[in-house]
Amino acid sequence: MSELNLSLFRGQLVRLAAPQPDDAKLFSRWSENAVYMRLVDTDYARPMSAEVVAEREKAHGSGPNAVTFHLRTIKDDSLIGFVSLHSIEWNNQTALMSIGIGEPDYWGKGYGLDAMRLILRYAFYELNLHRVGLHVSAYNTRAIRLYEKVGFKHEGSIRDFIFRDGQRYDDIFMGILRDEWRVSQPPSIAPLI
Ligand SMILES: CC(C)(COP(=O)(O)OP(=O)(O)OC[C@H]1O[C@@H](n2cnc3c(N)ncnc32)[C@H](O)[C@@H]1OP(=O)(O)O)[C@@H](O)C(=O)NCCC(=O)NCCS
Repeated sequence: MSELNLSLFRGQLVRLAAPQPDDAKLFSRWSENAVYMRLVDTDYARPMSAEVVAEREKAHGSGPNAVTFHLRTIKDDSLIGFVSLHSIEWNNQTALMSIGIGEPDYWGKGYGLDAMRLILRYAFYELNLHRVGLHVSAYNTRAIRLYEKVGFKHEGSIRDFIFRDGQRYDDIFMGILRDEWRVSQPPSIAPLI
């Protein structure tokens, strides 16, 4: 496959879609799910209006140092979540990433794996980044498993950073370098770099 024919935005289960103004309504509904909110962020969970969701995405998920996609299923184009590269430092060729599938019905079915493969390919192959890092709560075992599976390494932790239900948890740092990603991909995914 020619590298220019590579479908950058389309995986087997999900595609990386442009955020649309109407999407904020569904994101607002997901914010009413405390379980989801406590997995996706270490900040205090609270339901957010569509307006607040849209403002936050504008502030943190757009601009010159962030690229945010909304995740839509290939099967029927349902909106199921988001994935974002943010805190991009172009001089250092680094970014942090975040992912959230807001519809619990879609958890544990491979959608996150497909989305992670797409966003890493986008980060290394289109944005030409050198490194992608992330933070994850120590209690988020599903997310940690997923990150390990796509090649992220544990790089350290901020001890006792999170306090939930009377218990303290570490905030874990993970990261993947471009070369680590490249050697783990079949030629059809990482053809030339
Ligand atoms: C974390 C998240 C993106 C993972 O995506 P997903 O589609 O649910 O995960 P996948 O189906 O691709 O599974 C990934 C791996 O985790 C494993 N897994 C599934 N549930 C698990 C659990 N409860 N504990 C540990 N591992 C689990 C899967 O088996 C799979 O590994 P395997 O292929 O070796 O078996 C998604 O669940 C999500 O958005 N959760 C809520 C928000 C969140 O946690 N965001 C991340 C913040 S850091």
